[in-house]
Amino acid sequence: MLSEPMVVPSILSADFACLRDQLKAVEKGGAGMVHVDVMDGHFVPNLTLGVPVVRSLSGATRLALDVHLMITDPARYAPAFISAGARLVSFHVETAGSGSEVARRIQAAGARAGLAINPDTPLSALEEAIGVVDYVLLMSVHPGFGGQEFIPATMERLTALRALLRSRKREIPIEVDGGIGESNAWQLARAGANWLVAGSAIFSTGDPEEQTRRLCDSLRRQVPS
Ligand code: DX5
Ligand code: ZN
Repeated sequence: MLSEPMVVPSILSADFACLRDQLKAVEKGGAGMVHVDVMDGHFVPNLTLGVPVVRSLSGATRLALDVHLMITDPARYAPAFISAGARLVSFHVETAGSGSEVARRIQAAGARAGLAINPDTPLSALEEAIGVVDYVLLMSVHPGFGGQEFIPATMERLTALRALLRSRKREIPIEVDGGIGESNAWQLARAGANWLVAGSAIFSTGDPEEQTRRLCDSLRRQVPS
């Protein structure tokens, strides 16, 4: 059985000068995990953070760190992020090589492995690794930047992905990432999303604790039990 849908704040839009406080705030607000976006300026046209930051974050929160690798060579770098405290690591199906091999390497290093897929990539690309990975990360914006608008076609893709997983007897969590807030989180949860990543909706407001709580409440209010 999959657990209740949960809110996963993405620190990409946080104030990096006071991450410890921001983590405490989302913890109090009811966050389920913390999403950490790693970008290499190559797979996506932006740069963010690396292993030392993840190490510091893992000492500053009791929430699991969910590291989203938007990098060209995930197999090479994933073990270092796991040693630094990442409990979940996702990588993109659009990167070269065998996804199932990368996933096994992540699992062998002690983390749960997620397969991320961009909005324009057909869901059939997931087939090769779907029997191995622990969750799927469905991008609802083009990766690279926070604060973008949710791509509406994600809804249909989410329904199709849930059906695909069911047909493969893989009832694993689906994480949706990008452009999520109070207006659409509950619809995503109802359509089969388990982990709702939210960056700007939580951190661009000045009160991440309250925004996390509001987002969690919106899920509880709207999702039929
Ligand atoms: C985008 C990142 C997302 C981003 C989401 O490439 O993968 O995790 O932080 O930010 P919002 O919620 O602002 O779209
Ligand atoms: Zn992300």
